Amino acid sequence: MPAARITRATLAAMKRRGEPIACLTCYDAAFAGLLEAAGVEVLLVGDSLGMVLQGQPTTVPVQLQHMVYHSACVSRAAERALVIADMPFLSYATDDRALTAAERLMGEGGAAMVKLEGGGDLADTVARLTRFGVPVCAHLGLLPQSVHRLGGYRYQGRDDAGAARIRADALALQDAGAGMLVLECVPAALAEALSGELHIPVIGIGAGSACDGQVLVLHDMLGLLPGRAPSFSKDFAAGYGGVAAALAGYVAEVKARTFPGPEHTLH
Ligand code: KIV
Repeated sequence: MPAARITRATLAAMKRRGEPIACLTCYDAAFAGLLEAAGVEVLLVGDSLGMVLQGQPTTVPVQLQHMVYHSACVSRAAERALVIADMPFLSYATDDRALTAAERLMGEGGAAMVKLEGGGDLADTVARLTRFGVPVCAHLGLLPQSVHRLGGYRYQGRDDAGAARIRADALALQDAGAGMLVLECVPAALAEALSGELHIPVIGIGAGSACDGQVLVLHDMLGLLPGRAPSFSKDFAAGYGGVAAALAGYVAEVKARTFPGPEHTLH
């Protein structure tokens, strides 16, 4: 019998049980099959594809048509995993643009959820999307689409004021209807506190091992871009010897909470 589809309810139940959720970025059908076979529960069609597939310097040049194309490639092959598609830069700058982007990412792209980057000022957008049946994943901490405003890729929420802002944003987005939160590059203690406080699953990247789940950029954890992976990532392919073994190793370490280790975490 085929394994049951992963839904938001599955992930909520995993959070309640304290069972870590394994998520990876994915941009094509071949890897969708491999990742599913390894037991990855969530496939994120991230706009990181601009950097790892297109060779762009940031995610800013990624367009909606690119995200729709890659979401469709992944969704066609994913039989079990939950597929989340990133809303690209400025595609949710107005509510109407956000609805159009979500319509295309879910309708043509087959995504089951969309992700957008930003704080409590997006609460109305999140509420509107969810009112129309669009499941939304929020993204706080380091916001790669805002790299030009932030002035670089840096850890966020390191002081009390910054941490309080992220907490307030997370609560506002959850109240607005966000069904999941990606927390990128924040101190482990903040991520742990938020994972405990929020009732939605918190997926960390560069956020310590206490989150409800982990996500990495596929090309980083497979060592496909040597010398370019961030310090919070880990080359699982080198460690396990081969792609399939690397994927299985990643899932095993997320489940055992041995990844991320202290060397991948800001304390
Ligand atoms: O685009 C992406 O790959 C992401 C992850 C870094 C979470 O948003």
